[in-house]
Amino acid sequence: MSRIIDFNNIKDSLGNSIFYTNDRATVALGDSLQLLKKIPDNSVSLILTDPPYHSTKKGNIINDKAFSTDDDFINWMELYAMQWKRVLRPNGSIFMFCSSCMESKLTNMLCKHFNVLSHIVWTKPNEPGYDGWKGKMKKEALRQWYPHSERIIFMEAASEGNLNRSYFGNYLKRLRTECNLSGKDLTGMIGAYGRVNHGGAVSNWESGRNIPSKEQYASICEALKKSGIKEKLLEYEDVIRPFEVNANVEFTDVWTFPSVKAYKGKHPAEKPVSMLEHCIRATTFPGDIVLDCFAGSGSTIVAALLTHRIGIGIEIDNSWCFSIKRIIENAEDTGDVCDIQSIMKRLVSDKEPSLFDFETKAF
Ligand SMILES: C[S@@+](CC[C@H](N)C(=O)[O-])C[C@H]1O[C@@H](n2cnc3c(N)ncnc32)[C@H](O)[C@@H]1O
Repeated sequence: MSRIIDFNNIKDSLGNSIFYTNDRATVALGDSLQLLKKIPDNSVSLILTDPPYHSTKKGNIINDKAFSTDDDFINWMELYAMQWKRVLRPNGSIFMFCSSCMESKLTNMLCKHFNVLSHIVWTKPNEPGYDGWKGKMKKEALRQWYPHSERIIFMEAASEGNLNRSYFGNYLKRLRTECNLSGKDLTGMIGAYGRVNHGGAVSNWESGRNIPSKEQYASICEALKKSGIKEKLLEYEDVIRPFEVNANVEFTDVWTFPSVKAYKGKHPAEKPVSMLEHCIRATTFPGDIVLDCFAGSGSTIVAALLTHRIGIGIEIDNSWCFSIKRIIENAEDTGDVCDIQSIMKRLVSDKEPSLFDFETKAF
Protein backbone atom coordinates (compact mmCIF):
# COMPACT_ATOMS: atom_id res chain seq x y z
CA MET A 1 0.00 0.00 0.00
CA SER A 2 1.28 3.44 -0.83
CA ARG A 3 2.73 5.40 2.09
CA ILE A 4 1.03 8.49 0.69
CA ILE A 5 -2.36 6.80 1.10
CA ASP A 6 -1.40 5.81 4.65
CA PHE A 7 -0.31 9.39 5.34
CA ASN A 8 -3.61 10.79 4.09
CA ASN A 9 -5.54 8.26 6.18
CA ILE A 10 -3.55 9.26 9.25
CA LYS A 11 -4.27 12.93 8.58
CA ASP A 12 -7.98 12.15 8.22
CA SER A 13 -7.89 10.27 11.51
CA LEU A 14 -6.26 13.23 13.31
CA GLY A 15 -8.94 15.58 11.95
CA ASN A 16 -9.30 18.87 13.83
CA SER A 17 -6.24 18.19 15.95
CA ILE A 18 -3.97 18.93 13.03
CA PHE A 19 -2.17 22.17 13.80
CA TYR A 20 -0.21 22.37 10.57
CA THR A 21 0.27 20.12 7.58
CA ASN A 22 1.69 19.96 4.12
CA ASP A 23 2.19 17.03 1.79
CA ARG A 24 5.21 15.65 3.69
CA ALA A 25 4.71 16.65 7.31
CA THR A 26 1.99 16.99 9.91
CA VAL A 27 1.91 18.38 13.42
CA ALA A 28 -1.05 17.58 15.63
CA LEU A 29 -1.82 19.41 18.87
CA GLY A 30 -3.08 17.37 21.78
CA ASP A 31 -2.54 14.44 24.11
CA SER A 32 -0.74 11.90 21.95
CA LEU A 33 -2.17 8.93 23.84
CA GLN A 34 -5.69 9.96 22.84
CA LEU A 35 -4.70 10.90 19.29
CA LEU A 36 -2.73 7.70 18.78
CA LYS A 37 -5.92 5.72 19.37
CA LYS A 38 -7.37 7.28 16.22
CA ILE A 39 -4.42 6.41 13.95
CA PRO A 40 -5.10 3.40 11.68
CA ASP A 41 -3.47 0.02 12.37
CA ASN A 42 -0.18 -0.88 10.62
CA SER A 43 0.31 2.56 9.14
CA VAL A 44 3.66 3.79 10.50
CA SER A 45 7.13 2.46 9.64
CA LEU A 46 9.12 4.07 12.43
CA ILE A 47 8.21 5.42 15.85
CA LEU A 48 11.05 7.69 16.90
CA THR A 49 10.08 9.29 20.15
CA ASP A 50 11.37 10.98 23.24
CA PRO A 51 8.78 10.97 26.05
CA PRO A 52 9.12 13.01 29.26
CA TYR A 53 11.82 11.21 31.25
CA HIS A 54 10.02 11.28 34.63
CA SER A 55 13.40 10.98 36.35
CA THR A 56 14.78 14.38 35.40
CA LYS A 57 11.77 16.22 36.88
CA LYS A 58 12.02 19.20 34.57
CA GLY A 59 9.21 21.62 35.36
CA ASN A 60 9.42 23.11 31.87
CA ILE A 61 8.48 19.82 30.13
CA ILE A 62 4.82 18.82 30.35
CA ASN A 63 4.32 15.48 32.15
CA ASP A 64 7.95 15.24 33.28
CA LYS A 65 6.84 15.70 36.93
CA ALA A 66 3.30 14.36 36.52
CA PHE A 67 3.80 10.90 38.05
CA SER A 68 4.26 10.42 41.76
CA THR A 69 5.72 6.92 41.44
CA ASP A 70 7.85 5.14 38.88
CA ASP A 71 5.09 2.55 38.45
CA ASP A 72 2.59 5.25 37.50
CA PHE A 73 4.99 6.43 34.81
CA ILE A 74 5.65 2.91 33.52
CA ASN A 75 1.89 2.18 33.42
CA TRP A 76 1.38 5.34 31.37
CA MET A 77 4.16 4.32 29.00
CA GLU A 78 2.61 0.87 28.66
CA LEU A 79 -0.59 2.46 27.34
CA TYR A 80 1.61 4.00 24.65
CA ALA A 81 3.40 0.71 23.98
CA MET A 82 0.06 -0.98 23.27
CA GLN A 83 -0.89 1.72 20.78
CA TRP A 84 2.58 1.72 19.19
CA LYS A 85 2.28 -2.00 18.64
CA ARG A 86 -1.03 -1.49 16.84
CA VAL A 87 -0.03 1.42 14.58
CA LEU A 88 3.43 0.04 13.72
CA ARG A 89 3.79 -1.89 10.48
CA PRO A 90 4.92 -5.47 11.13
CA ASN A 91 8.32 -4.67 9.57
CA GLY A 92 8.65 -1.41 11.51
CA SER A 93 11.01 -0.25 14.26
CA ILE A 94 10.87 1.89 17.38
CA PHE A 95 13.47 4.11 19.06
CA MET A 96 12.47 5.33 22.49
CA PHE A 97 14.68 7.76 24.39
CA CYS A 98 14.87 7.52 28.17
CA SER A 99 17.10 8.29 31.12
CA SER A 100 19.70 5.76 32.23
CA CYS A 101 17.91 5.21 35.55
CA MET A 102 14.46 4.48 34.06
CA GLU A 103 15.79 2.26 31.27
CA SER A 104 15.62 -1.10 33.06
CA LYS A 105 12.03 -0.61 34.27
CA LEU A 106 10.97 0.52 30.82
CA THR A 107 12.70 -2.43 29.15
CA ASN A 108 10.93 -4.86 31.50
CA MET A 109 7.62 -3.44 30.37
CA LEU A 110 8.50 -2.99 26.68
CA CYS A 111 9.76 -6.53 26.17
CA LYS A 112 6.20 -7.81 26.81
CA HIS A 113 5.20 -6.06 23.58
CA PHE A 114 8.31 -5.86 21.39
CA ASN A 115 11.63 -7.50 20.68
CA VAL A 116 14.04 -5.18 22.42
CA LEU A 117 17.13 -5.35 20.21
CA SER A 118 19.54 -2.70 21.52
CA HIS A 119 20.12 -0.36 24.42
CA ILE A 120 22.03 2.44 22.81
CA VAL A 121 24.12 4.64 25.08
CA TRP A 122 24.19 8.22 23.87
CA THR A 123 27.23 9.77 25.55
CA LYS A 124 26.13 13.37 24.88
CA PRO A 125 29.59 14.90 24.44
CA ASN A 126 29.65 18.67 24.87
CA GLU A 127 31.32 20.76 22.23
CA PRO A 128 34.67 22.25 23.41
CA GLY A 129 33.97 25.27 25.57
CA TYR A 130 30.43 24.07 26.41
CA ASP A 131 30.89 21.99 29.50
CA GLY A 132 27.27 22.12 30.68
CA TRP A 133 26.34 20.89 34.17
CA LYS A 134 29.12 18.33 34.23
CA GLY A 135 31.68 21.12 34.53
CA LYS A 136 29.72 23.33 36.90
CA MET A 137 28.23 20.93 39.43
CA LYS A 138 29.76 20.07 42.81
CA LYS A 139 31.26 16.61 42.39
CA GLU A 140 31.61 16.07 46.16
CA ALA A 141 27.79 16.26 46.48
CA LEU A 142 27.17 13.27 44.19
CA ARG A 143 25.45 10.14 45.56
CA GLN A 144 26.00 8.11 42.40
CA TRP A 145 27.94 8.44 39.14
CA TYR A 146 26.99 11.61 37.36
CA PRO A 147 24.53 10.60 34.60
CA HIS A 148 26.20 12.01 31.53
CA SER A 149 24.52 9.68 29.06
CA GLU A 150 21.02 8.82 27.94
CA ARG A 151 19.59 5.56 26.66
CA ILE A 152 17.80 4.83 23.43
CA ILE A 153 15.83 1.59 23.44
CA PHE A 154 15.64 0.11 19.96
CA MET A 155 12.88 -2.41 19.23
CA GLU A 156 11.04 -4.23 16.51
CA ALA A 157 7.53 -5.67 16.46
CA ALA A 158 7.71 -8.98 18.35
CA SER A 159 7.23 -12.27 16.55
CA GLU A 160 6.41 -15.26 18.73
CA GLY A 161 8.25 -13.63 21.63
CA ASN A 162 11.53 -14.75 20.08
CA LEU A 163 14.34 -12.29 19.54
CA ASN A 164 15.60 -14.17 16.51
CA ARG A 165 12.27 -14.58 14.76
CA SER A 166 11.66 -11.68 12.43
CA TYR A 167 8.49 -10.91 10.52
CA PHE A 168 10.33 -11.66 7.30
CA GLY A 169 11.88 -14.84 8.75
CA ASN A 170 8.46 -16.24 9.61
CA TYR A 171 7.08 -15.27 6.22
CA LEU A 172 9.92 -16.92 4.32
CA LYS A 173 9.73 -20.08 6.39
CA ARG A 174 5.99 -20.42 5.82
CA LEU A 175 6.30 -19.97 2.04
CA ARG A 176 9.31 -22.31 1.74
CA THR A 177 7.52 -25.00 3.75
CA GLU A 178 4.40 -24.65 1.61
CA CYS A 179 6.61 -25.30 -1.45
CA ASN A 180 8.17 -28.38 0.19
CA LEU A 181 11.64 -26.90 -0.22
CA SER A 182 14.50 -27.34 2.22
CA GLY A 183 16.64 -24.35 3.14
CA LYS A 184 19.42 -25.89 1.07
CA ASP A 185 17.09 -26.33 -1.98
CA LEU A 186 15.98 -22.71 -1.85
CA THR A 187 19.50 -21.39 -1.28
CA GLY A 188 20.60 -23.32 -4.36
CA MET A 189 17.71 -22.05 -6.50
CA ILE A 190 18.57 -18.44 -5.75
CA GLY A 191 22.34 -18.96 -6.03
CA ALA A 192 23.02 -17.66 -2.52
CA TYR A 193 25.48 -20.41 -1.47
CA GLY A 194 27.99 -19.40 1.17
CA ARG A 195 31.52 -20.80 1.00
CA VAL A 196 30.94 -23.31 3.77
CA ASN A 197 27.30 -23.78 4.69
CA HIS A 198 25.13 -24.48 1.66
CA GLY A 199 21.78 -24.00 3.39
CA GLY A 200 23.16 -20.97 5.24
CA ALA A 201 21.66 -17.98 3.47
CA VAL A 202 18.05 -19.08 3.84
CA SER A 203 18.54 -20.32 7.38
CA ASN A 204 20.19 -16.99 8.36
CA TRP A 205 17.29 -15.04 6.87
CA GLU A 206 14.70 -17.23 8.53
CA SER A 207 16.34 -16.99 11.91
CA GLY A 208 16.58 -13.21 11.60
CA ARG A 209 20.39 -13.14 11.68
CA ASN A 210 20.57 -11.08 8.51
CA ILE A 211 18.51 -9.55 5.73
CA PRO A 212 18.42 -10.36 2.00
CA SER A 213 19.20 -7.56 -0.45
CA LYS A 214 16.43 -6.36 -2.74
CA GLU A 215 17.97 -8.41 -5.58
CA GLN A 216 18.15 -11.51 -3.41
CA TYR A 217 14.52 -11.02 -2.41
CA ALA A 218 13.53 -10.80 -6.09
CA SER A 219 15.33 -14.14 -6.66
CA ILE A 220 13.56 -15.67 -3.64
CA CYS A 221 10.17 -14.59 -5.07
CA GLU A 222 11.10 -15.99 -8.48
CA ALA A 223 12.12 -19.34 -6.96
CA LEU A 224 8.95 -19.56 -4.85
CA LYS A 225 6.75 -18.80 -7.85
CA LYS A 226 8.53 -21.50 -9.87
CA SER A 227 7.88 -23.89 -6.99
CA GLY A 228 4.15 -23.30 -7.15
CA ILE A 229 3.34 -20.46 -4.72
CA LYS A 230 0.02 -18.97 -5.80
CA GLU A 231 -0.43 -16.08 -3.34
CA LYS A 232 0.67 -12.57 -4.26
CA LEU A 233 4.07 -12.06 -2.66
CA LEU A 234 4.70 -8.99 -0.54
CA GLU A 235 6.81 -6.08 -1.78
CA TYR A 236 10.35 -5.90 -0.32
CA GLU A 237 9.50 -2.63 1.49
CA ASP A 238 6.48 -4.24 3.14
CA VAL A 239 8.15 -7.35 4.48
CA ILE A 240 11.78 -6.52 5.30
CA ARG A 241 12.63 -4.51 8.40
CA PRO A 242 15.36 -2.30 6.97
CA PHE A 243 18.64 -2.01 8.85
CA GLU A 244 21.33 -0.15 6.97
CA VAL A 245 24.64 0.80 8.61
CA ASN A 246 28.26 0.73 7.49
CA ALA A 247 31.75 1.48 8.80
CA ASN A 248 31.36 5.23 8.15
CA VAL A 249 28.43 5.74 10.53
CA GLU A 250 27.83 4.96 14.22
CA PHE A 251 27.21 1.22 13.91
CA THR A 252 27.81 0.22 17.54
CA ASP A 253 25.45 0.80 20.44
CA VAL A 254 27.54 3.69 21.79
CA TRP A 255 26.72 6.98 20.08
CA THR A 256 28.68 10.22 20.33
CA PHE A 257 26.50 12.81 18.57
CA PRO A 258 27.17 16.20 20.22
CA SER A 259 24.25 17.51 22.25
CA VAL A 260 22.45 20.64 21.08
CA LYS A 261 24.08 23.83 22.32
CA ALA A 262 21.92 26.34 24.20
CA TYR A 263 20.31 29.02 22.05
CA LYS A 264 17.41 31.40 22.43
CA GLY A 265 14.17 29.45 22.05
CA LYS A 266 15.76 25.99 22.36
CA HIS A 267 13.50 23.21 23.61
CA PRO A 268 14.81 22.01 27.01
CA ALA A 269 15.17 18.44 25.68
CA GLU A 270 15.99 19.08 22.03
CA LYS A 271 17.73 16.12 20.42
CA PRO A 272 20.37 16.65 17.71
CA VAL A 273 18.84 16.36 14.27
CA SER A 274 21.97 14.53 13.02
CA MET A 275 21.30 11.72 15.51
CA LEU A 276 17.64 11.48 14.50
CA GLU A 277 18.62 11.43 10.82
CA HIS A 278 20.93 8.52 11.64
CA CYS A 279 18.08 6.63 13.33
CA ILE A 280 15.81 7.21 10.34
CA ARG A 281 18.34 6.40 7.60
CA ALA A 282 19.35 3.15 9.30
CA THR A 283 15.85 1.79 9.81
CA THR A 284 13.47 3.05 7.13
CA PHE A 285 13.08 3.21 3.37
CA PRO A 286 12.81 6.59 1.61
CA GLY A 287 9.18 7.70 1.65
CA ASP A 288 8.34 5.80 4.86
CA ILE A 289 6.27 7.39 7.62
CA VAL A 290 8.03 8.41 10.84
CA LEU A 291 5.94 9.20 13.93
CA ASP A 292 6.98 11.14 17.03
CA CYS A 293 4.38 11.20 19.82
CA PHE A 294 6.34 13.79 21.85
CA ALA A 295 7.43 16.16 19.13
CA GLY A 296 8.89 19.01 21.25
CA SER A 297 10.94 21.25 18.96
CA GLY A 298 9.99 19.23 15.87
CA SER A 299 13.49 17.76 15.51
CA THR A 300 12.12 14.37 14.39
CA ILE A 301 9.93 15.95 11.72
CA VAL A 302 12.92 17.96 10.49
CA ALA A 303 15.07 14.81 10.39
CA ALA A 304 12.33 12.96 8.50
CA LEU A 305 12.15 15.71 5.89
CA LEU A 306 15.93 15.89 5.60
CA THR A 307 16.05 12.17 4.89
CA HIS A 308 13.13 12.28 2.44
CA ARG A 309 10.65 10.50 4.66
CA ILE A 310 7.24 11.67 5.87
CA GLY A 311 7.20 13.20 9.37
CA ILE A 312 4.27 13.18 11.78
CA GLY A 313 4.56 14.81 15.19
CA ILE A 314 2.12 15.10 18.07
CA GLU A 315 2.76 17.69 20.78
CA ILE A 316 0.61 18.72 23.71
CA ASP A 317 2.15 22.16 24.14
CA ASN A 318 0.62 24.73 21.85
CA SER A 319 3.74 26.91 21.83
CA TRP A 320 5.92 24.07 20.50
CA CYS A 321 3.35 23.27 17.82
CA PHE A 322 3.54 26.88 16.78
CA SER A 323 7.33 26.73 16.68
CA ILE A 324 7.30 23.55 14.56
CA LYS A 325 4.88 25.16 12.15
CA ARG A 326 7.24 28.12 11.84
CA ILE A 327 10.22 25.87 11.26
CA ILE A 328 8.51 23.94 8.48
CA GLU A 329 7.15 27.06 6.83
CA ASN A 330 10.58 28.60 7.15
CA ALA A 331 11.96 25.84 4.96
CA GLU A 332 9.99 27.33 2.14
CA ASP A 333 10.66 31.01 2.62
CA THR A 334 14.12 30.97 4.31
CA GLY A 335 13.80 32.84 7.57
CA ASP A 336 16.49 32.59 10.21
CA VAL A 337 16.65 32.18 14.03
CA CYS A 338 17.37 28.86 15.76
CA ASP A 339 19.60 25.88 14.98
CA ILE A 340 16.81 23.73 13.60
CA GLN A 341 15.74 26.55 11.36
CA SER A 342 19.24 27.00 10.02
CA ILE A 343 19.23 23.34 9.05
CA MET A 344 16.00 23.96 7.21
CA LYS A 345 17.56 27.00 5.60
CA ARG A 346 20.44 24.88 4.33
CA LEU A 347 17.93 22.58 2.70
CA VAL A 348 16.27 25.24 0.67
CA SER A 349 19.51 26.86 -0.44
CA ASP A 350 20.45 26.64 -4.09
CA LYS A 351 22.97 23.87 -3.51
CA GLU A 352 20.56 21.42 -1.93
CA PRO A 353 17.41 19.99 -3.48
CA SER A 354 14.33 21.64 -2.10
CA LEU A 355 12.77 20.00 0.89
CA PHE A 356 9.48 19.62 -0.84
CA ASP A 357 10.77 18.53 -4.24
CA PHE A 358 11.58 14.92 -3.49
CA GLU A 359 9.75 12.05 -5.06
CA THR A 360 8.09 9.72 -2.61
CA LYS A 361 8.24 6.26 -4.05
CA ALA A 362 4.80 4.67 -4.18
CA PHE A 363 5.35 1.19 -2.77
C1 LIG B 1 11.50 15.09 26.09
S1 LIG B 1 10.53 16.26 25.23
C2 LIG B 1 10.80 15.89 23.52
C3 LIG B 1 11.89 16.74 22.91
C4 LIG B 1 12.09 16.44 21.43
N1 LIG B 1 12.64 15.13 21.22
C5 LIG B 1 13.03 17.45 20.78
O1 LIG B 1 14.07 17.05 20.21
O2 LIG B 1 12.73 18.64 20.83
C6 LIG B 1 8.90 15.69 25.50
C7 LIG B 1 7.81 16.51 24.84
O3 LIG B 1 6.57 15.81 24.97
C8 LIG B 1 5.54 16.73 25.20
N2 LIG B 1 4.43 15.98 25.86
C9 LIG B 1 4.32 15.62 27.14
N3 LIG B 1 3.19 14.91 27.34
C10 LIG B 1 2.59 14.79 26.14
C11 LIG B 1 1.41 14.14 25.68
N4 LIG B 1 0.61 13.47 26.51
N5 LIG B 1 1.10 14.22 24.36
C12 LIG B 1 1.90 14.90 23.51
N6 LIG B 1 3.03 15.54 23.88
C13 LIG B 1 3.39 15.47 25.18
C14 LIG B 1 6.16 17.81 26.03
O4 LIG B 1 5.45 19.04 25.91
C15 LIG B 1 7.59 17.88 25.45
O5 LIG B 1 7.66 18.87 24.45
